[in-house]
Amino acid sequence: MDIKSKINNIVIAGAGVMGASFAQIFAQYGFKVVLYDIFEASIEKGKKLISMNQQNAIDEGLLTSEESSKLVNNISYTMDMESFRNADFVIEAIAEKMEIKHEFWKQVSSIAPEDAILTTNTSGLSINKIAEAVHKPERFCGMHWVNPPHIVPLVEIISGDKTKEETSEIVKELALYIERKPVMVKKDISGFILNRLQYAILREAFYIVENGVASVEDVDNVMKYGLGRRYACIGPFETIDFGGIDIFFNVGSYMFKELSNSTEVSPLLRELYEEGAYGVKTGKGFYDYSGDKAEKAIEKRDKDFMKVAKALS
Ligand SMILES: NC(=O)c1ccc[n+]([C@@H]2O[C@H](COP(=O)([O-])OP(=O)(O)OC[C@H]3O[C@@H](n4cnc5c(N)ncnc54)[C@H](O)[C@@H]3O)[C@@H](O)[C@H]2O)c1
Repeated sequence: MDIKSKINNIVIAGAGVMGASFAQIFAQYGFKVVLYDIFEASIEKGKKLISMNQQNAIDEGLLTSEESSKLVNNISYTMDMESFRNADFVIEAIAEKMEIKHEFWKQVSSIAPEDAILTTNTSGLSINKIAEAVHKPERFCGMHWVNPPHIVPLVEIISGDKTKEETSEIVKELALYIERKPVMVKKDISGFILNRLQYAILREAFYIVENGVASVEDVDNVMKYGLGRRYACIGPFETIDFGGIDIFFNVGSYMFKELSNSTEVSPLLRELYEEGAYGVKTGKGFYDYSGDKAEKAIEKRDKDFMKVAKALS
């Protein structure tokens, strides 16, 4: 499929953490990108995020400053909904609230051309439910990225009941064109794949800390220096093949019944939530991000992710 003959103008809704990052990715691959938001302040924030991300990429040698200025010129900013009239491809990355998404899609799906492909980056809201507000929902599907999307290559493509196969195939081709790793989620299941795996890990991580088995720091260390290193190279099923089906069968026969089966949000998470300690964005979460620590932590995370991406590319 010649994706460039089909898609040229990409309109991204929401100039936040995810939308700003998407704009850079598509602009880097020569698409004309319009970044749309309803707030002037959000657009300014988006511009700042893009310039920060670009500087990090230049510092890490992933881009030259000439390439960076060229891609930045492919991005324009707007608060005018009319910009969806020329869209070949829409990515919605606005607030994670069903009513807000419904209102947005009701308007945008009737403004955008009927053959435009429409996608949502929802973290876990039902694709079928969002699609209820979409005019011609056969061209609509989920396109779920991982933060920070300009560095992490995975894209989950989620088909709703009304999504035409051709739609998800075009989204897949586009993801491949921008050198991402698409996976096809064939059913509109809560949390898709990544978040189901992530929350299974979190349930056990909370169980370990709440039961005094290890500290928050040590659980993070087990992931960073153990499982995380492995999973950057091989997946869980490959791990079983390398370790031996017999070993995993035998361990599984006593281990699964030992694992947490809690269906509630952890009290540890609830306590921080109720205190308003939301993590990096408020200066306090499980760790301290007061003063300039938050900005430094984000910069270190992005640079570390880039080093891993470079090492494995
Ligand atoms: N942050 C993550 O780690 C992450 C990962 C995967 C998916 N997502 C999903 O991506 C979406 C955006 O997340 P984010 O982290 O970028 O949020 P964010 O809060 O950083 O940005 C959201 C942006 O949307 C704008 N906005 C709100 N309502 C709007 C509307 N009606 N029309 C246009 N713009 C509007 C806001 O002004 C803001 O700039 C959410 O659905 C979220 O669940 C987030």
